[in-house]
Amino acid sequence: MTKAEENVHVYDANLDGGSALQDFFEGDSLTVATRFFRNKVFFQQLEEVVIPQLLQGGLAHRKVVHIWSAGCSDGRETYSLAVAVRRILDQLGHKRIQLQLRGSDLSRPQLDRARKGVYRVGPSDNGVFRPYSDFFTQLSPALWEVKDSIRRLVEFVDEDIAKVVPDEPYDLLVCSLVLLYYEPNYQKEILLHLLTTLRVDGFFYVAPVSSRWMRTQGFKPVVNGMNLYHRDQAISSAE
Ligand SMILES: C[S@@+](CC[C@H](N)C(=O)[O-])C[C@H]1O[C@@H](n2cnc3c(N)ncnc32)[C@H](O)[C@@H]1O
Repeated sequence: MTKAEENVHVYDANLDGGSALQDFFEGDSLTVATRFFRNKVFFQQLEEVVIPQLLQGGLAHRKVVHIWSAGCSDGRETYSLAVAVRRILDQLGHKRIQLQLRGSDLSRPQLDRARKGVYRVGPSDNGVFRPYSDFFTQLSPALWEVKDSIRRLVEFVDEDIAKVVPDEPYDLLVCSLVLLYYEPNYQKEILLHLLTTLRVDGFFYVAPVSSRWMRTQGFKPVVNGMNLYHRDQAISSAE
């Protein structure tokens, strides 16, 4: 983790909603504070908990996983989700289950980078692609391209996550290091809106957030102390 990411809480800009948000995020160099497979434990939980439980809950019949990367910056998070979930489903023999991912952001320059799907990564990050070599092409020692088979699963949209109304509820929603820009009341407003977009048995990775507040909304962490949440009722059978 870089120094900037460690100190990400200092980015708290205490914003309210409104029309100036796009200007703020397009002018803010911190919107690039992102990386591939940022949280190892979360990606482990995708494999051990999220996908198995969604499959038990009927995903094998629905045949489409809907995933939203809310505040996706330059797309690294969205592509990480796409390749991780594709790989898990393939390994479990569910090659016919499709993925549909949405990556939303207010920063148009970041979204342009996301749509290109070409990334310069340092030598310390090269290793993260090893398990996913089927999904990336290494163009040069430091340059990696996301393959078309993954890019076509993802739609990148210039939009405010507080206003998105999805066609289908999400199986998995990830909102990482976004809310910290906002003042607390507006954070709650955004969170309440995000919760309405989730399937009843859906999973929500959100950080930072107060787990106590999440409990007041009927959600609890999949693993205590972690930022992956599930509706309390649905998770009780897994404990
Ligand atoms: C620090 S980056 C985090 C990127 C990624 N989620 C991660 O954890 O690696 C925060 C991103 O959230 C975006 N953002 C902030 N508020 C937003 C909003 N209301 N709607 C859409 N995107 C937003 C910013 O433009 C920025 O790209």
